[in-house]
Amino acid sequence: MIKNEIELGKNRTGIDLSPIDKKLVIEGAQHAVPTMAGDEHAIDETRAEYLENPATIGSMPPPATVKGAASTVVDTLKGTKATVFLDKVGARLGFERTGARLYGALLGKFDASEPLPGGPQRADLEKIHREEVQHFEMLREVMLGLGADPTAITPSADVEAVSSNGLIQVIGDPRMNLKQSLEAILVAELVDNECWSVLTELATAAGHTAIAQKFQQALSEEQQHLANVRMWVRNATMGEAKPRQAAPKK
Ligand SMILES: [Fe+2]
Ligand SMILES: [Fe+2]
Repeated sequence: MIKNEIELGKNRTGIDLSPIDKKLVIEGAQHAVPTMAGDEHAIDETRAEYLENPATIGSMPPPATVKGAASTVVDTLKGTKATVFLDKVGARLGFERTGARLYGALLGKFDASEPLPGGPQRADLEKIHREEVQHFEMLREVMLGLGADPTAITPSADVEAVSSNGLIQVIGDPRMNLKQSLEAILVAELVDNECWSVLTELATAAGHTAIAQKFQQALSEEQQHLANVRMWVRNATMGEAKPRQAAPKK
């Protein structure tokens, strides 16, 4: 059973636990000299070399269908670049797919965890999981409707996937408890809310009114996810911080 309380243990990462070594470490740091010639400018120069001829992180795929080519033209006529819109739709699509998997893993952790006072019920997590899947499906249909390929990883999808790596590691790690995993989910929901908001604005600006309405609906659901996760994390943290009542003496 996964415990939600953080206990005193054998954490030896701090220097104070070993006063003798502490003195030596500080002395060592004060007298240490670099093991090779050069200073921080070398890394700046190396970075500058890479930045001079940067490789980009992917590109947008060309429209694979006549419909896709037509929607690109229409969006351009309306004054918005279809590539920017599709790049961001692709990013949400990838993120919702990951989100569904994160909640799937969180459900497993919920089942293996001791009760978390102030935390979610199983049905709450199931509902969010379901909605993340629905958002993914809706985005896939939107992509297909625009003649775009929903299996393509767009540049923004790539960036968001790399940024989310840490969240996947937290939730996938059995040593991270339910509360700690909810803290990672909170990061995902915060990002997701920001991105859905801009995506809805983009759809409106591109004149995709029906799509914008669907996105607005998803945004409302995401706002509720965020409010719930915020509350669970807050309640669980405050509850954990409360000293335990001593058992009454007999
Ligand atoms: Fe989401
Ligand atoms: Fe969400």
